[in-house]
Amino acid sequence: MSTQAQKEQPTKRPIIFSGMQPTSGAGGLTIGNYIGALKNWVELQNDYDCIYFIADLHALTIRPEPAALRKQTLDVAAMYIASGIDPDKSVIFAQSHVPAHAQCAWLLNCFASMGECQKMTQFKEKSEKHSASVGLFTYPVLQAADILLYQTNLVPVGADQKQHLELSRNLAERFNHYYSDTFTVPEVFIPKVGARVMSLQDPTKKMSKSDENPKATIFLTDSADEIRNKIKRAVTDSGTDIRAAEDRPAVTNLIELYGIATGYTQAETEAQFESKGYAEFKSALADAMVAMVEPISKRYQEIRNDKAALNAILKKGAEEANRRATRTLRKAYKKMGMVELENV
Ligand code: TYM
Repeated sequence: MSTQAQKEQPTKRPIIFSGMQPTSGAGGLTIGNYIGALKNWVELQNDYDCIYFIADLHALTIRPEPAALRKQTLDVAAMYIASGIDPDKSVIFAQSHVPAHAQCAWLLNCFASMGECQKMTQFKEKSEKHSASVGLFTYPVLQAADILLYQTNLVPVGADQKQHLELSRNLAERFNHYYSDTFTVPEVFIPKVGARVMSLQDPTKKMSKSDENPKATIFLTDSADEIRNKIKRAVTDSGTDIRAAEDRPAVTNLIELYGIATGYTQAETEAQFESKGYAEFKSALADAMVAMVEPISKRYQEIRNDKAALNAILKKGAEEANRRATRTLRKAYKKMGMVELENV
């Protein structure tokens, strides 16, 4: 290659990979999903080579209703775009459109130990609620396959994914050690603020799409009235001051939400509401939440209604994802001793 051509080569940007599950609750994605992950994904798009997917195979682990799964997969794709993921900058695809995910999961299943899967807190929690399938047990191994197939450098997620990411790193390191370098060992990216948005009804629990109490969760599709109502009814701690502290988890969560939506630090928020009560603070918080969510939910309806455009984006994303994932899968197959067809 000439020096001139070398100069013109675009510098390779680090690879970002992340995704969300489409099911568990009819309301779609929550402000927890947005603040803990999606918002950061949008910010990373300009500087990194970003790949964002919809984990529809993972959703099967709790056997969702087929029509609901189909609908919610498209809902999530539309919500990614409405939140600011630009399909011209980032790859967007559905996991089931790229067969290499299930194939690579099998390879890694043969590397993961029963013990390390049994240790996963999410498995323990979910298997208490549903009768556990084998899929639920190996869920984090499929997650590792997702990440490793793209030679991912950085995985932006909320705090609840930390343990799964640790497993992905361990599996990559173990595989590389056993066979020689095959997978990039990914780093986890957890935001400093908003990594764990808590339930509005029980601040000791993470806000979740599948919470049975609809007042606990703000969805990105909620109307302004719904958001205001949920914040008005959010539980608070004893005492009346707007001050964050370890023994005041409800108010601490609300102050964090206010900070994320407005850009104010915790100290600035506390100063702003020093001599004011919960009602005034909640009203300001509701305004800030509506201002954050409303533009997203408006864009969402438009994008979700254009099924042909959504389909085209997922198709283009699947082509690019297949190209990249197949390359890694073939490399792993070869290292593990699978016969390459052309050599038979
Ligand atoms: P999921 O669908 O539960 O959540 C998607 C993302 O949203 C974050 N999140 C939160 N962040 C802050 N506060 C909350 N209350 C909150 N609730 C959810 C999650 O941390 C996550 O980043 N196993 C994954 C999906 C997955 C995946 C992957 C992610 C499958 N393969 C590969 C990254 C890379 C999950 O169930 O996320």
